[in-house]
Amino acid sequence: MHQAYQISSYAQYQEARQKSVENPELFWSEIASHFQWKRKWDTVLDWNFQEPSVKWFEGGKLNISENCLDRHLETRGNEPALLWEANDPKEPGRVLSYNELHFKVCQFAHVLHANGVRKGDRVCIYIGMVPELAIALLACARIGAIHSVIFGGFSARAIADRLEDASATFIITADGAFRGAKDFPLKAIIDDALEANNTVQKVIVLERTKTPVSMIAGRDVWWEDEISKVVAAGNPDFPALEMDSEDPLFILYTSGSTGKPKGVVHSTAGYMIWANYTFLNVFQYKAGQVHFCTADIGWITGHSYIVYGPLSAGACSLMFEGIPTWPDAGRFWEICEKHSVNILYTAPTAIRSLMAFDTKPLEGKNLSSLQVLGSVGEPINEEAWHWYSREVGKDLCPLVDTWWQTETGGIMISNLAGITPSRPAWATLPLPGVQVCVVNEQGKELEGEASGNLCIKFPWPGMLRSTWGDHARCRQTYFSAYPDLYFTGDGCIRDAEGNYRITGRVDDVLNVSGHRIGTAELENAINAHSGVVESAVVGYPHDIKGQGIYAYVIYNGNHSDEEDRVRKDISMTVSKLIGAIARPDKIQFVPGLPKTRSGKIMRRILRKIAEGYTSNLGDTSTLLDPTLVDVLKEGAL
Ligand code: WTA
Repeated sequence: MHQAYQISSYAQYQEARQKSVENPELFWSEIASHFQWKRKWDTVLDWNFQEPSVKWFEGGKLNISENCLDRHLETRGNEPALLWEANDPKEPGRVLSYNELHFKVCQFAHVLHANGVRKGDRVCIYIGMVPELAIALLACARIGAIHSVIFGGFSARAIADRLEDASATFIITADGAFRGAKDFPLKAIIDDALEANNTVQKVIVLERTKTPVSMIAGRDVWWEDEISKVVAAGNPDFPALEMDSEDPLFILYTSGSTGKPKGVVHSTAGYMIWANYTFLNVFQYKAGQVHFCTADIGWITGHSYIVYGPLSAGACSLMFEGIPTWPDAGRFWEICEKHSVNILYTAPTAIRSLMAFDTKPLEGKNLSSLQVLGSVGEPINEEAWHWYSREVGKDLCPLVDTWWQTETGGIMISNLAGITPSRPAWATLPLPGVQVCVVNEQGKELEGEASGNLCIKFPWPGMLRSTWGDHARCRQTYFSAYPDLYFTGDGCIRDAEGNYRITGRVDDVLNVSGHRIGTAELENAINAHSGVVESAVVGYPHDIKGQGIYAYVIYNGNHSDEEDRVRKDISMTVSKLIGAIARPDKIQFVPGLPKTRSGKIMRRILRKIAEGYTSNLGDTSTLLDPTLVDVLKEGAL
């Protein structure tokens, strides 16, 4: 543990924040000096937000897998790095010490190398939550390949688009994945995704569910067979490749306000330092503690707070394959008791779904090991905040509400557990190094108490560097709304003390159960159904998911007398094109969409109707056909 930069008092927090603003280069170079470098950097920071071009620790050479593994071997080689809990509570879990994890990562790096993977190649990873997923990430990093993890809930079509966008040449997958009562045939989905693909050369398949799979000669190989070859060769070490600070470490696709998902690109050194610094400071991790982040590694939270943050800090990270409600709603609590979990980091949607079962599943579970609770992914409502704090934390654990994004690489605004005060439904204060500002619609920076759009005016090490294959898109999406500012896409409120409350997206992006889904992407998928003329999607408040998906659809196909059947067909179309996570909750058939004379859909009205309003819809006079509003209201679901 690098207590040297672990903040331990409110005064230290203030000091660090001040120093990070006054002399960011000195501040970050002191922190960076605690990592393992193959060559020290020449310059700490070089940046401009116009291009944008952001470079941290240029000239430095390192490998993140070495920082996550090798450098801990002497001090804590036999201590657990990863604890793994299977989907089925009857299946034994696994423990991998730092020595064992290092060994397995080296073995798998050999497998990658033997199969032709080289520095800079894009490797798509589509596996469930098993230790091999973490091993695959670290082995890619070790060999200098850029990983692109795709969440198991995405469809073959969505995978195909991502493979093509990244020109991926390798895939690491499994026969299947267990999640709750279901198993998902991952390899079969990959086979479909590869039908029209011409970049992928090899698919490495891990055995997990024993689901029958087709193995194509010359393309598909079994993980276990490949490992046997490395064993036969005497398990040689695999020296970590020397990477530049700014070499891309991974791509992670995320939805935005246009139809096409974008590949957010993260760097090596800056991302590593940010994941590590935020992990140690927000959760106040202490040696020997067990950190349980319930996210999926298919999302950024899993990248930063199951793998890179904890492992770079020499921590013990618990990884869980299943879901909170299977075999019953006591599963999380059982795991916390079994592994004496100290830090629990989960999403509001999980808390709300467990709240629905009341406190019965918590009865008889010993949660006394818990010391810190965390929340991420969406605004946490006060009711869920209090329930989590009271029923799970027994009013004894600080609760950190952590605001951040795929693009930020790690936590940006959050209280620090036990160090800075928490406040229900408020993310509170920015971390050192995070220079937040609030702007109004015109881009004017607001002072003091304010409400507006959340922007960031100075680079931090973990920020995205580009969007894969299309740098102009990165500029357009994040740096063009307001000159010289990174625009988050979120709205916020700031109080007189400088605390922030995040109020949600101000662009056309929904947050459904903590998953980001762009309405344009959803509309494209719905419009792909042969009978759909046009559609518009908005979010509406949903008790468990936070936001639900409400689709207004102009339908002109057959079966128009069987509305429910058509709804199912549309849902199926969305499932095929994006994945089951994006299926609409409500589909209302409409004769038209409320458009202005210039043809722009007035989403504000659609949102109000979806939220259940029948009056106060705002100004409707600019609509081409104001009478449509009554028709929409009457048909509201
Ligand atoms: C939302 C997840 C309120 C926000 C790490 C952001 C939050 C988007 C919080 C990023 C929070 C995340 N309070 N809103 N504590 N955390 N968000 O990229 O709208 O999957 O822009 O990253 O989630 O989602 P992403």
